[in-house]
Amino acid sequence: MAVFITHSRAETVALGRRLAAALPPGTLVCFTGGLGAGKTAFTEGLAAGLGCADPVSSPTFAIVNYYRGPRPLAHFDLYRLSSEEDLLAAGLYDYLDEGAVVAAEWSENFAALLAAEHPVTVDLRPLSGQTRQITIEGVQL
Ligand SMILES: Nc1ncnc2c1ncn2[C@@H]1O[C@H](COP(=O)(O)OP(=O)(O)O)[C@@H](O)[C@H]1O
Ligand SMILES: [Mg+2]
Repeated sequence: MAVFITHSRAETVALGRRLAAALPPGTLVCFTGGLGAGKTAFTEGLAAGLGCADPVSSPTFAIVNYYRGPRPLAHFDLYRLSSEEDLLAAGLYDYLDEGAVVAAEWSENFAALLAAEHPVTVDLRPLSGQTRQITIEGVQL
């Protein structure tokens, strides 16, 4: 487990970039932390670190955004999903099997189910103002 403190959005993006360098293909990254914690900002860094060139936007409406690149990324918002069938239908397991890195916001909804995928977990907690405590487990950084 590694605990980081970031003091700006840019620092959180940089941490995402750093994590990307340590992720094998087909890794699930499970985010926890509420609205505005910085999950999408962190994912912007992940995408950049994986070599995905397109700008990252929140997958809230699409449920999943897929970014092509040398190391592809599938970015999910699980907020409105509730069952294993929903995950299957959205293609979460397909992306993992194809070797994409899969980043999942609101993984709280599926904690037990997704634990079976041996995820890297990233928990983001606002402390004060622009400060975030970010706890990363499941990978050596
Ligand atoms: N240290 C920080 N890390 C990430 N975001 C921060 C930080 N400080 C302030 N922010 C702001 O918090 C918001 C985070 O938004 P976003 O990444 O979309 O969160 P989430 O996806 O968790 O809802 C942005 O407006 C960002 O500018
Ligand atoms: Mg988000």
